[in-house]
Amino acid sequence: MRTLINNIKTLAGIEYAPKLRLQGKEMSAFNTIDDAWLTVEDGRFAAFGSVADGMPTGTFDQTIDAEGGMVLPSWCDSHTHIVFAGSREREFVDKINGLSYEEIARRGGGILNSADLLHNTSEDELFRQAMQRLDEVIRKGTGCIEIKSGYGLNLEDELKMLRVIQRMKEVSPAKIVSTFLGAHAVARGMTQSDYVKLIIDEMIPEVGRQHLADFIDVFCDRGFFTPEETARMLEAAATWGMRPKIHADELASSGGVEIGVKHGALSVDHLESMTEEEIDILRGSETMPTVLPGTSFFLNMPYGKGRKMIDAGLSVAVASDYNPGSTPSGDMKFVVSLACIKMRLLPNEALNAATINGAYAMGESQNYGSIAKGKVANFFITTPLPSVDFIPYAYTTPIVKKVVLMGKEC
Ligand code: NIG
Ligand code: FE
Repeated sequence: MRTLINNIKTLAGIEYAPKLRLQGKEMSAFNTIDDAWLTVEDGRFAAFGSVADGMPTGTFDQTIDAEGGMVLPSWCDSHTHIVFAGSREREFVDKINGLSYEEIARRGGGILNSADLLHNTSEDELFRQAMQRLDEVIRKGTGCIEIKSGYGLNLEDELKMLRVIQRMKEVSPAKIVSTFLGAHAVARGMTQSDYVKLIIDEMIPEVGRQHLADFIDVFCDRGFFTPEETARMLEAAATWGMRPKIHADELASSGGVEIGVKHGALSVDHLESMTEEEIDILRGSETMPTVLPGTSFFLNMPYGKGRKMIDAGLSVAVASDYNPGSTPSGDMKFVVSLACIKMRLLPNEALNAATINGAYAMGESQNYGSIAKGKVANFFITTPLPSVDFIPYAYTTPIVKKVVLMGKEC
């Protein structure tokens, strides 16, 4: 199957030299070609070029008219919790009335509230709700996404969540990776140490045996899990081939960055309370620092040090954190705008953070995250736009006109 995409005003996010991630100054180029064409063969990018240099030859089974719009690689959202039941707008009002995230959690709200809702929701209904959210973000341009468990907090309900993600992987044209986040909060009625033991002795082995998760995550933060507990859980998961992606430094500088780097984490995420020493710890590591500006926006909290990390020569990814408590939105275009406005990333840097570096944070950057020969043809076509910078600048303007996943319009 050969497809030609023509009438492209700007083809953006092109990768010329294969790189698994972009670091520091490399992030400032989001390569473009004006008046371009693009071809797809059997679901992968085959070739691209400028019209001035000549159109591609041969016959095509299908032509997609970009109608003078821009073509961008799909967003790669490397941190979400979109399998959840219902919603938590009551806590939204509590927060406006002055309660903190931690106070709400201590009163049995927060994650435990979602765990109760999830327990009382059937697997089919959970799948239906999660697919609706996935469809919503696909329409907004996301084509590669990580989804975590973590609202089960007991073996059966964690497995239920992970089976829902498995079903989503099977039916969706978007690329999905799954993360086991049993250590999201201590289950109601259990002591911290009994719950950590349950995760290590029962949950991790069962998730491993059933091959239900690609990664392991722990909410390593003040009031949740300690670095020592985190290390033990990561070691147990490593024996089942689950690489870490850690929730670190959201509420306080928690030691999560150090533990993550030590255990070869693919990413450490949140980082709102990160210190200078932790920037040093990340230098020279394989770990992708991932900032979640939508969370800072919604919780009215400080933003992660995206600018500082890029200036220090590090890679940075941005992700949505779409979840019912701290970030009820998976709009990656808005995340890119916030990264620019609140973290002072340049538009090109934020776009790279939301595509190629997001793909790296899911272990998928050989196949996703840029327009490059051989990569999976996941991209979106925009309405006509004056420039790439317009994307984060026009921070509420919808721009996605057509979505193409695995080479097919959907
Ligand atoms: O990433 N920080 C921990 N977990 C989520 C929030 C989960 C919730 O409140 O439901 C987060 O922000
Ligand atoms: Fe999260």
